[in-house]
Amino acid sequence: MASHGPAQKMTARAGGPLVGNANVPGDKSISHRSLILGAMAVGETRISGLLEGQDVLDTAKAMAAFGAEVTQLGDGEWSVHGVGVGGFAEPEDVIDCGNSGTGVRLIMGAMATSPITATFTGDASLRSRPMGRVTDPLALFGARAVGRDGGRLPMTIVGAKAPVPVDYRTPMASAQVKSAVLLAGLNAPGQTIVTEAAATRDHTERMLRGFGAEVTSERCDDGFRITLTGQPELRPQTIAVPRDPSSAAFPVCAALIVPGSDVLVPNIGLNPTRAGLFTTLREMGADLVYENEREEGGEPVADLRARFSPDMKGIEVPPERAPSMIDEYPVLSVVAAFAEGETVMTDVHELRVKESDRIDAMAVGLRACGVRVDETEDSFTVHGLGAGGVPGGAMAAARLDHRIAMSFLVCGLAAKRPVSVDDAGPIATSFPIFEPLMRGLGATFDRDND
Ligand code: S3P
Repeated sequence: MASHGPAQKMTARAGGPLVGNANVPGDKSISHRSLILGAMAVGETRISGLLEGQDVLDTAKAMAAFGAEVTQLGDGEWSVHGVGVGGFAEPEDVIDCGNSGTGVRLIMGAMATSPITATFTGDASLRSRPMGRVTDPLALFGARAVGRDGGRLPMTIVGAKAPVPVDYRTPMASAQVKSAVLLAGLNAPGQTIVTEAAATRDHTERMLRGFGAEVTSERCDDGFRITLTGQPELRPQTIAVPRDPSSAAFPVCAALIVPGSDVLVPNIGLNPTRAGLFTTLREMGADLVYENEREEGGEPVADLRARFSPDMKGIEVPPERAPSMIDEYPVLSVVAAFAEGETVMTDVHELRVKESDRIDAMAVGLRACGVRVDETEDSFTVHGLGAGGVPGGAMAAARLDHRIAMSFLVCGLAAKRPVSVDDAGPIATSFPIFEPLMRGLGATFDRDND
């Protein structure tokens, strides 16, 4: 989907406390991977709890275009009849990944070692994002890429006819790059190795093992090394997608800053490569408790209980924690505005190449809400005003970025005056039930058409 229709202005204003249970949707990262790996397995993979956000629906459509049979059986229930590693057919038309960097980069990896050609595009946000970080390592396998200036979409990938395995060190902390290399390595003979300086989310490795591939992960002198043995036969799986900690972040953070709130967010995966935000919030003094801690499918899971926390203090977020909370800095910067003192976020240059330049988007929007924000190329600092201290009364630009839109709506629920976003449409990419879920907790939102 190249655009999502007319802009949907939305306003959040302070009301009563947020109270109740927040059942957030399935994990976006795991949902994409379920469809892609299902399409690369031989036979039928069954998925429950799939996130039916636009990003994931675009990946489902793409997998069908590459020849897999992808069927929605019910609410979040999907079936994928895969074509096997190396079995992708050449798509008849352009693959439109909409807003999804994860979708396009993983799919490019998955097709790059098959003797087919595919052309990819996306919406204005995705067309502005760098693809060279993926096409550089894919070239080492023997694939060719032709795109617009700066390695931007639309871009055509000519898959390698006789792929060779690759030993690649990722130049930036990116699970998408790591995953693209591993997915390409599936159809190369021998061992493909990826080394990363800092551990990024490891869903691809875990899921590949579940599908029967041989994947090892080990610490090494310069970080973490992942080794994949190529050309496995992937066995179809039954996958229950856990709920998304990156979506849980929004009701959790809203509860922390809205007076009187008490919200339970059940069943959230606390994989250490994803849970950095919650550790950070607790260090800031948030009343955030893990209840009913358990293991499910080999992953730590808990129910998160978040209550209004009027005494939070700003901290320096340890830079080595960045990969485990990279998507959560926008909403953390909102919480930081309601804490006392400075919150310093360093080594976050990657935020500048997300769905939007998230440092700039948050800095501009928070300043408009009366909050002081300093920024450098790879860091930003929010000068907190304490509980109830944010003036608000501004309109923030969502910039085709779901997390920017949701962050400013959370801000408006606790600011002195309402906060609007110019377009809430992008929220549907990752959290289509955000609005009803938050209203169910007691949030006050207005739409122009209310
Ligand atoms: C993702 C990896 C991260 C993250 C994105 C999802 C994934 O991107 O920001 O939302 O599923 O692999 P990078 O790999 O660019 O850090």
